[in-house]
Amino acid sequence: MPHHQILVLPGDGIGPEIIAEAVKVLECLRQEHGLDATLDYGLLGGRAVDELGSPYPEATRRQAHAADAILLGAVGGPKWESLDRPLRPERGLLAIRADLQLFANLRPAILHPQLAAASSLKPELVAGLDILIVRELNGDLYFGQPRGIRTLENGEREGFNTMAYRESEIDRIARVAFEAARKRQRRVCSVDKANVLEASELWREVVERVAKDYPDVALAHLYVDNAAMQLVRAPKQFDVLVTGNLFGDILSDCAAMLTGSIGMLPSASLDAYGKGLYEPIHGSAPDIAGKGIANPLATILSAAMLLRYSLNQPALAERVETAVGRVLNQGLRTVDITATGMTAVGTQAMGDAVIAAL
Ligand code: IPM
Ligand code: MG
Repeated sequence: MPHHQILVLPGDGIGPEIIAEAVKVLECLRQEHGLDATLDYGLLGGRAVDELGSPYPEATRRQAHAADAILLGAVGGPKWESLDRPLRPERGLLAIRADLQLFANLRPAILHPQLAAASSLKPELVAGLDILIVRELNGDLYFGQPRGIRTLENGEREGFNTMAYRESEIDRIARVAFEAARKRQRRVCSVDKANVLEASELWREVVERVAKDYPDVALAHLYVDNAAMQLVRAPKQFDVLVTGNLFGDILSDCAAMLTGSIGMLPSASLDAYGKGLYEPIHGSAPDIAGKGIANPLATILSAAMLLRYSLNQPALAERVETAVGRVLNQGLRTVDITATGMTAVGTQAMGDAVIAAL
């Protein structure tokens, strides 16, 4: 195994607590299962603003460029909400995504059968659910120029953003989706708003063009409003969903809830060469920070994705995922996924149980 450099960015809120458990898992793999990696620590988000004056400081930027993969907790919290926009923690996250050109955001929504009762949908609608959302992460309203808040001639202020997608950006994310579909059920559903938006009209045209290179994969299109409805009506109809940055942000939270808890879902944000940033899709949850009750499984599963996609260690990734399954089978639940009659365990106890199951 080549030596790997992993940058760990605990972040804010529950970030440090859940990252500590994922780090325990990586350390265990290092000591007992042959993982050859060095862990390095850095600052991103609110704590980075407090200590270094920027949500994505130059020191972190250098560490991030040197690393093979990055594991992130979560950023943000009420303490930093009223800062000037460039200093807000979320800006740090957007900056690292843009700076490292992490354009392909993979958000699997898998229902662990043990958690069917925790879903907000009826168990039969979600049993066996396995969706992969492929969200474009470097374009769209998130980064389009011009943007801002301007004062009109009559003195009224207007906020504005630009939704823009280039052919090359659509082409490369579509290819990620089709390649992923080839390893799954070979079905891609592209989500847009082509009945209203030019950016979506081009999106659809380019996705159609890319599809010609994947005749073995079935392509369908949905408008985003319909896609949102279908996700809560009959989510199992989907295999791979590919969409732009904003629609993907919204639909992935929605898909997360189908699986019982947003505390279960990992994500990967990849560049064109397999370098990636891995983070749970839930946020920093300031309301429960410091209480030791946050669910570390999404972060532990993000570490598994890191092992698979950036370190090319599928066997170690599977070992972690199997351990998480075992722990759920044993009936261990953090408070976000408990069912009636179950006692919740804390963040550390959950992490310890995963280590024991490794
Ligand atoms: C996500 C989050 C981020 C986003 C925020 C924190 C900037 O919601 O990763 O889904 O909107 O991309
Ligand atoms: Mg989001």
